[in-house]
Amino acid sequence: MSKLKIAVIVGSTRIGRFAEHPAKWIAELVGQRSDLDVEVLDLIDYPMHFFGEARATTAESDVAERWKKKLREFDGFIFTAAEYNHAPTAVLKNAIDLGEFIQKPVGFVGYGGVGGARAVEQLRLIFVEMGAASVKTGVHIAFSEYLAVLKEGKSLGDYAHLNEAAKNLLDQITWWGNALKAARAVVTAS
Ligand SMILES: Cc1cc2nc3c(=O)[nH]c(=O)nc-3n(C[C@H](O)[C@H](O)[C@H](O)COP(=O)(O)O)c2cc1C
Repeated sequence: MSKLKIAVIVGSTRIGRFAEHPAKWIAELVGQRSDLDVEVLDLIDYPMHFFGEARATTAESDVAERWKKKLREFDGFIFTAAEYNHAPTAVLKNAIDLGEFIQKPVGFVGYGGVGGARAVEQLRLIFVEMGAASVKTGVHIAFSEYLAVLKEGKSLGDYAHLNEAAKNLLDQITWWGNALKAARAVVTAS
């Protein structure tokens, strides 16, 4: 079976963002697996207009086209999920609205006061509407771990329960990724 291509999407563009820590960590774990290939997609590199915005420049619209086209290369997606006012970041929601995830698995690495759980639960609902398959296990980086990474130089990989959750997440992304890739191929061929 050929390797699945997985995108890790950095879901915050805030200056000084924490998002880079979970993105780097989970991308390394994906890269260590023999059944998965990984590429990190940073929304900073895709400065898109807001969905449906009349005043969007051609350049911004071109970026959105480039984004959508890029997403088509992948068999599954893992998002870093910050929580802004109990919701996903606006920049990530816009990138989802302008993207295409149909019949592919999605998973989340959340962080914040309650491990980003409220944002992740909203993302799961959003992805139902996008026709994606949200996998069961999420990784939730609690506030104590968030602070230890920022202030004590700890690594996310220092936490056994995070590594275990990440392994389960990747196992599920792999299972669904292979199943849906095979199903997409049958439908395309028929
Ligand atoms: C506008 C704003 C709203 C926030 N709201 C929440 C929140 O509802 N729950 C939470 O756990 N953290 C909240 N935070 C704190 C974020 O979890 C924290 O700033 C985190 O680092 C944001 O992710 P980022 O650094 O990758 O952008 C908020 C931060 C901002 C800037």
